[in-house]
Amino acid sequence: MTTGPERDGKLPLTELQEMTSRGDPIVMVTAYDFPSGRLADAAGMDIVLVGDSAAMTILGHSTTVPATMEEMLMLTRAVTRGARRPIVVADMPFGSFQVSDEDALRNAIRFVKDAAADAVKLEGAGPSLSRVVALVGAGIPVMGHIGLTPQSATMLGGFRAQGRTAEKARRLLDEAIALEEAGCFALVLEAVPAPVAARISETLVIPTIGIGSGAECDGQVLVLHDLLGLYEGRSPRFAKRYADIGGDIRSALERFGAEVRSGAFPAEEHTYAMPEEELEAFLNGSPSGSRAESRTET
Ligand code: KIV
Repeated sequence: MTTGPERDGKLPLTELQEMTSRGDPIVMVTAYDFPSGRLADAAGMDIVLVGDSAAMTILGHSTTVPATMEEMLMLTRAVTRGARRPIVVADMPFGSFQVSDEDALRNAIRFVKDAAADAVKLEGAGPSLSRVVALVGAGIPVMGHIGLTPQSATMLGGFRAQGRTAEKARRLLDEAIALEEAGCFALVLEAVPAPVAARISETLVIPTIGIGSGAECDGQVLVLHDLLGLYEGRSPRFAKRYADIGGDIRSALERFGAEVRSGAFPAEEHTYAMPEEELEAFLNGSPSGSRAESRTET
């Protein structure tokens, strides 16, 4: 099979496993549109996740649950236009994979076929295991996600760390092994105590990508709006902020507003000129086909 031109430069999925064997950390970030996909690519991200966190970060919902297939498809299309080298993973929204393997497969195919995603991510183990088998069997790479799974936050007692007792930690390890056996190519561990994530990471062959799960994971992921300081809601303690883009945007808008109101904007350099004689003719000439003429005629 040949690789078409659109695959040129794309990080091969198999490279993730090799990075983990070499001890090279995998870097993943979320993106939700063309510019953030393009910037994530330019900044050398290995994986770009079109997360259903979009429901909160860009659509204004208070949880990830309301994200729809149509919204996620639109965002994924925009991100895949911008992120060429990184592996783009589309997050399967709540309701798109819970009903049956067939439903999950139908929706996953849409991400790959209509939105050019390289892979999909789905939350949970248990019933999700047969979904992973079905999708991988159809040739669609699947990233798993356990620990704090926001789509089932209500069942988990809220947005809180998971696996904090020996029994619950053991259950997480079992789920991780089951997801690897089902065929996942990587596994997100969210809000899992660092020693538990470390044990899972050393047990699995596939890479683990941590978020709030300590430094021993094989890679790390952050939500773009958390790391840019662009999310106004409460960010979790593990979400390190690398910039204050929200503050920058607000102050730029305030300056724009102030300059329009004071008349300082637009200045000469923001306007277009025209040749003197044309301007003269325009200002002194009589309007041709003017409304005034038409009005007298009628
Ligand atoms: O939706 C999302 O952004 C995620 C990450 C937190 C891993 O699932």
